[in-house]
Amino acid sequence: MSLSRVNVTAVRNLHPVTLSPSPRINILHGANGSGKTSLLEAIHLLGLARSFRSTRLLPVIQYDQPTCTVFGQVQLADGRQTNLGVSRQRQGDFKIRIDGENARSAAQLADALPLQLINPDSFRLLEGAPKIRRQFLDWGVFHVEPRFLPAWQRLQKALRQRNSWLRHGTLDAASQAAWDRELCLASDEIDGYRRAYIQALKPVFEQTLSELVELEGLALSYYRGWDKDRPLVDVLASTLLRDQQIGHTQAGPQRADLRLRLNGHNAADILSRGQQKLVVCALRIAQGHLVDQAKRGQCIYLVDDLPSELDEHHRRALCKLLDDLNCQVFITCVDHELLREGWRTDTPVAMFHVEHGSITQTHDHQE
Ligand SMILES: Nc1ncnc2c1ncn2[C@@H]1O[C@H](COP(=O)(O)OP(=O)(O)OP(=O)(O)O)[C@@H](O)[C@H]1O
Ligand SMILES: [Mg+2]
Repeated sequence: MSLSRVNVTAVRNLHPVTLSPSPRINILHGANGSGKTSLLEAIHLLGLARSFRSTRLLPVIQYDQPTCTVFGQVQLADGRQTNLGVSRQRQGDFKIRIDGENARSAAQLADALPLQLINPDSFRLLEGAPKIRRQFLDWGVFHVEPRFLPAWQRLQKALRQRNSWLRHGTLDAASQAAWDRELCLASDEIDGYRRAYIQALKPVFEQTLSELVELEGLALSYYRGWDKDRPLVDVLASTLLRDQQIGHTQAGPQRADLRLRLNGHNAADILSRGQQKLVVCALRIAQGHLVDQAKRGQCIYLVDDLPSELDEHHRRALCKLLDDLNCQVFITCVDHELLREGWRTDTPVAMFHVEHGSITQTHDHQE
């Protein structure tokens, strides 16, 4: 799938603009502070109803404007189109529209517009908290396994019940046991989906990584959030006292993690910044391949500041992998000369110059 039209109003410093991007490679170039990342942020808003730069949406709205709005026309793999719209008012009203209807949740947007972000913060996937890796993992599972979301919602509900009971102790024994059973069922289901996903991801990741960088001995593994040899029900029973003391459930899929180790060491402690970026790119590109294999249409890549931290050899290798994915990519850079070359001759590349918040298309992909 690809965005065939994007309309942005009052996002950061961007002037109102309507773009007709290339279904493949889109390069946004311009000086520091011109608005390149802001355009990626606008597309991110359209796909996830949130920013990747600030936890709140208020700073995204242009100073002095009451509302920021992003519309997008999405071209689906089967030839159909879908229209998405997201708007946020300064007063706090937030709206998501899908094909003219109000949408209930951001999950519907994420389903309609699968986005992958690669930016200078991406190394956090390796060295940040487990939550970031769980989000990465669950993004992938969500897009290939439709039964994942309802199972995850059941888990959240059962966990809320259990944690509330751990803190307040107001539930009778039979109800406690029923909620624990529900918790264990949902946990096993989620663990099964996550495990199957990692099994599918691993070989694609290893292949992708080997095309980007030589890192012999890098291994990806999955920790399910509790002892791999014991059923969750036993683990919950043995940690009950401690759970009551701290007021929440310690073991379970809410504690799952992905581990990346290089010859036995935590990869984040060993790899250079550029190598970390390449590993994260390989993980995210591998996820794109799996979304594609699941026949859900490809996802769209937002790559902020692609050249940073990469030498020419690795930059070209990354461009080749993005090109081979055959999906839509939005790439920002200060110096577009660095990205002018390196694409297949039949790949439609569109260039956009960003200057003081104005975006002008300088090279038409149809030329
Ligand atoms: N809410 C806002 N309203 C108006 N302008 C804003 C708002 N928030 C940020 N800005 C300004 O928007 C400009 C664009 O920032 P952006 O991060 O998009 O630039 P960029 O082109 O990605 O730059 P760089 O090459 O340094 O990454 C900045 O000058 C910033 O000060
Ligand atoms: Mg930027």
